[in-house]
Amino acid sequence: MNPFEITTYKEYQDSYENAKNNPERFWDDIASHYSWQKKWSKTLNWDFKGPKISWFEDGKLNITENCLDRHLKKNGESTALIWEPNNPKEPELRMSYYELHSAVCRFANVLKSRGIKKGDRVAIYMPMIPELTIGVLACARIGAIHSVVFAGFSSQALTDRINDSTCCAVLTSDGMYRGAKNLAIKTTVDEALKSCPSVKTVVVVKRDNRNIQWTHGRDIWHHEAVENISDFCPAEAMDSEDVLFILYTSGSTGKPKGVVHTCGGYMVYAGYSFKNVFQYKAGDIYWCTADVGWVTGHSYIIYGPLLNCATTLMFEGIPTWPTASRFWEICDKYSVNQFYTAPTAIRSLMALGNKWVEGFSLKNLKVIGSVGEPINKEAWDWYDKMIGKSNCPIVDTWWQTETGGIMISGLGNLSEQKPTFAGKPLPGIEPVLLDINGREILDDGIEGHLCVKFPWPSMLRTIYGNHQRCKDVYFSNYDGYYFTGDGAKREEGMYRIIGRVDDVINVSGHRFGTAEIENAINSSTLVTESAVVGYPHAIKGQGIYAFISLEAGDHNEIDVNNSIISAVVGSIGHIAKPDIIQIAPGLPKTRSGKIMRRILRKIAEGNTKDMGDTSTLLDPSVIDSLIKGKK
Ligand code: PRX
Repeated sequence: MNPFEITTYKEYQDSYENAKNNPERFWDDIASHYSWQKKWSKTLNWDFKGPKISWFEDGKLNITENCLDRHLKKNGESTALIWEPNNPKEPELRMSYYELHSAVCRFANVLKSRGIKKGDRVAIYMPMIPELTIGVLACARIGAIHSVVFAGFSSQALTDRINDSTCCAVLTSDGMYRGAKNLAIKTTVDEALKSCPSVKTVVVVKRDNRNIQWTHGRDIWHHEAVENISDFCPAEAMDSEDVLFILYTSGSTGKPKGVVHTCGGYMVYAGYSFKNVFQYKAGDIYWCTADVGWVTGHSYIIYGPLLNCATTLMFEGIPTWPTASRFWEICDKYSVNQFYTAPTAIRSLMALGNKWVEGFSLKNLKVIGSVGEPINKEAWDWYDKMIGKSNCPIVDTWWQTETGGIMISGLGNLSEQKPTFAGKPLPGIEPVLLDINGREILDDGIEGHLCVKFPWPSMLRTIYGNHQRCKDVYFSNYDGYYFTGDGAKREEGMYRIIGRVDDVINVSGHRFGTAEIENAINSSTLVTESAVVGYPHAIKGQGIYAFISLEAGDHNEIDVNNSIISAVVGSIGHIAKPDIIQIAPGLPKTRSGKIMRRILRKIAEGNTKDMGDTSTLLDPSVIDSLIKGKK
């Protein structure tokens, strides 16, 4: 049996047992599937206390050789990338493995010509265009560490991320298209770079041909730079534990954290999980609708598919433009076989009605996937019936930026399905549910904190520049376990993810720390204090509810709302705008000054019958006024 390619449920079960009983041998077998410049000497060294985790020690590799060079001999002419532009009237682009390899090497040589080298950090702030994928791989080719920042983040958020890891370059474009919008992305970069002294190079891809400001000596056009440059670029020899990328994600406290992934382990797991979860077969057309700005795009638009010599489709636009049929049009246009999206997209398309789906055959779909947030039964059923035509397995994939790859999920059509349950762990993954005392919950149906008790190759290694934070957030809540921050329960070996148990809100599959949004709101001069909680939202999964205390004086509500919204948009971006703002005479605080969020959550949910113990509140009458003022 080849565990890289699990083809029956029995093989899944056997692989699971093998991985549990002899993890090093299991992962050795999987890793041997890739090409290494030098074989590793030790498969695994680990200690969750440090934490100190290393996989495939002393191994040398380059992930781009595995994504590209390895396929050239036999499959150089196969399509690696299909790019569907925002505007359906614009022609699509197809790149073979040869072409992608050549484009990556050219871009890599451009980076080198600017003095960028192994270990340097490069920020990528780009729309969903082929140069984004090429730029990511170009960094990996020369051993530069990519830090992709979702292009919906504000200039301030970009500044913070660039400075946190002192990036020396930014890859971007002049403008970008998103549905009916045409946005000035380079202007955002220029604004961000006013406070980023480390950035010496900005590579600009021409996308919409708009007039842009130019900083001579710093800015270069991508199309000019790649023109007269060699497409021969040897792949840098990377140690398994050298950093491949940093990706920022929100936690319950402080600023977003730079999650660090390393070359060897990430590669091994991204390829293995892609192959098995999606049951990808040669010739299939695979489409993940995520943005490369999030981890899903890293692992399952770029690395996972290319490691498997797959054809990966990249879409620049949005599901509802020009019409709400766009996803299904694309599925039919390219005969998509595997389709991977988020519950928010499913719910919003479901809400617009079946007429947008009817008339599309979707007949090539073999596996449809979901990621990013819990999928409710109604959305699951609609996805199953309307998109899968009751004939496609749904893989509800649970994982995180920190896990690097899918941890809990069905494997294509091999696994049994249970709506709203993500399913069983992949072979090599050992999840557990812990109670608040840190004891493993063995019985079915009881909710606990989801943890993992054994390392896997693509787990985060650290938080960039702050190892202590990595230890505190993930390895200190429960001794000897990786703590996910999620609550879950189990039935017959299948896991149902309930949601975050920390102060993280998951809005449309995007993670925000409540503290992060509060800090943004508090920067408005009108605000003295704020508290942000999540509440159930029919489309977004969770919405953002902000309770605000204002400076003394008369305030016009519209002005207050505008000031708060612009504070959030400026410091984080449109995606973090509060859905509901309630001006409150006071916030419910304990005598020691701590805000009782539990109470605010209940008010936001409209669940005010039983407030629980409020005896520690400094002023219990605050509750009534908050309930009266509920929006
Ligand atoms: O709460 C879980 C939720 O998304 C969180 C991870 O967010 P992020 O790092 O941004 O990565 C999202 C894409 C991998 C998790 O802690 N989550 C992710 N997938 C699921 C999910 N919740 C329920 N079901 C899922 N399938």
